[in-house]
Formats: sequence, C-alpha cells, structure tokens
Amino acid sequence: MNPTIKSGALALLVLLAPSVMAAEEKQSEAKPTLEYGAEVYQARCVLCHGREGYGDGMLPVSMKEYPSANLHKNRFGKELDDLRLSIIYGGSLGTMSAEMPPWGDELTYTQVESVAMFTKLLITDLKKAVALMEKTEANKQPSFRLGRAIFKNYCSLCHGENGEGDGKMAKIIKNPPPFNLTLSRAPDEYLMQIITKGGAAMGRSPRMPPWGEQFSETERRSIIMYIKTLRR
Ligand code: HEC
Ligand code: HEC
Repeated sequence: MNPTIKSGALALLVLLAPSVMAAEEKQSEAKPTLEYGAEVYQARCVLCHGREGYGDGMLPVSMKEYPSANLHKNRFGKELDDLRLSIIYGGSLGTMSAEMPPWGDELTYTQVESVAMFTKLLITDLKKAVALMEKTEANKQPSFRLGRAIFKNYCSLCHGENGEGDGKMAKIIKNPPPFNLTLSRAPDEYLMQIITKGGAAMGRSPRMPPWGEQFSETERRSIIMYIKTLRR
C-alpha cells in the first residue's frame, strides 16, 4: 500500500473524529445502546463502509483498488462475538486487510459494544438501522470540518480544490463549466436545492449531479457551510 495514501486516510480520520468527541465523552461510561452505536458508526465507520455498509464511503470511492469494505458481504462472521473481534483487532492480526483499523485502543468498551450491536443490525435489518441513524442525525449540528471533507472527496473533482471551477473534470465539462463557487452569491435555500436535486432539476446543467440520496441533510448543510467560506 502506498504510504502517502495511507497517511491521507489517517488525516481524514483525524479530521472527522473531533466532531463527535463531546457526545462520546458524555456517553462513555453509560451502558451500550443501539442508538449510541449508530452515532459511533456515523462518526468512525461511514468514511470507509458507507452509510448503508456497502463499502462505498469516501475512502473507497476516492482511492483506486481500495479493499472491499462491504459489510453485507461479510467474510469474518456475522454474530456479535465475531463482529466485536473484527472491530477490536481489525487488520492488526494479519488475517483482515490492514485498511481496517483496530479500534480496541481507541474506542471505549461501551463504544465497541454499541457499534458492534449497530453493525449487526445494519447487516440483518438495514431499514431499521438507517431509520435509527436518521434519528440520531436529526439531533446533530452541521460542521465546517465535515463539509470540507465531503467537498474534497466529491466536489473538488469538478469544482477544484478551492472551488474555482478548475477541477480535473473541468477539462471536459464545458458550456457551462463547473461553477466557480468563489463567485457564487446564491442564497442557502438555492444551494440546498441544487445540491440535493442536481443541475437538471433547477434548469441548469445536468453535469451537476444530485446528491440528496448520498448525503443526509446535516451533511448537505455542512457542505453549504463550507462552500460559502470559499467565496471572495
Ligand atoms: C479506514 C477505513 C475503515 C474504517 C474507518 C473502518 N473500517 Fe471496517 N473494514 C475496512 C476494510 C477495508 C475492511 C475489509 C477487510 C477485509 O475484508 O480484509 C473492513 C472490515 C470490517 C469488518 C469485517 C467485515 C467482514 O467481512 O466480516 C467489520 C465488522 C468492520 N470492518 C466494522 C467496522 C466498524 C464498526 C468501524 C467503525 C468503528 C469500521 N469498520 C471502520 C475499512 C475500515
Ligand atoms: C461532474 C462534475 C460536478 C461535480 C462532481 C459537482 N458539480 Fe457542482 N456543478 C457542476 C456544473 C457543471 C455546474 C454548473 C451548472 C450550470 O451553471 O448550469 C455546477 C454548479 C454547482 C452549483 C451552483 C452554484 C451557483 O451559485 O449557481 C453548486 C452550489 C454546486 N455545483 C455545488 C456542488 C457540490 C457541493 C458538489 C459536491 C457535493 C458538486 N457541486 C459536485 C458540476 C459538478
């Protein structure tokens, strides 16, 4: 594995983690619960496993040849005992890909147990798991850090690292090109609509994709918070 890619993955993990620290601390001595598991999963696992566990998180999507992190094609066992071991030791025992971090040192007992319970629910009753995640998300605040991480992985390809409309894809997307977001003056409500429904639904270019299925409302609000800071 390329060492720069590896440290990139770590940087992203570090970047996303603090947004939940406060909630984690409050709960850390409590009993394990599915609700808490949903929160830990969103904060620590979605990055690689994706919201629904299909292994389509930001890292797999942005890195070629990323090992499959699909939890629905489970290789190491679906029982709570198996899941707990996978989560605690990750790739550190050499059987599983080293891309799966060992969480035993980093998470508390309550967090490991909660997220193992939640992972089991995700595998056995996806609908219920997603509903639970949406409930915990509703209590969450949008964050600049989350918006920035999403932008870098999903939007900069077209809009450019700094939002100037000069991403890699700008070479082939013309008439109109990816919008120069530093010049955008659109109000929040318009931004929410075009990000959620895509360009075509707003009478604009269909090359601007819809993101409403992929990102929760909190995530979309986080993206808006971030892209407004790019304006000049
Ligand atoms: C940096 C990326 C990354 C993060 C973050 C991550 N995982 Fe993983 N995980 C992987 C990869 C890749 C695999 C597949 C390993 C393999 O198949 O060899 C995996 C495998 C697993 C497995 C075993 C699946 C099986 O096939 O049996 C479980 C369970 C799991 N992860 C749970 C979690 C949980 C819970 C979290 C959050 C606390 C988490 N992972 C965070 C990358 C990650
Ligand atoms: C495949 C290329 C592509 C990707 C990826 C992409 N966009 Fe766009 N986006 C465009 C294009 C092209 C336009 C210009 C549409 C037009 O002017 O008709 C646009 C327009 C926009 C606008 C309208 C700005 C304004 O003020 O009118 C916003 C906001 C926007 N994109 C946000 C995003 C966000 C956020 C992401 C990532 C979640 C993203 N885009 C990903 C191509 C892309």
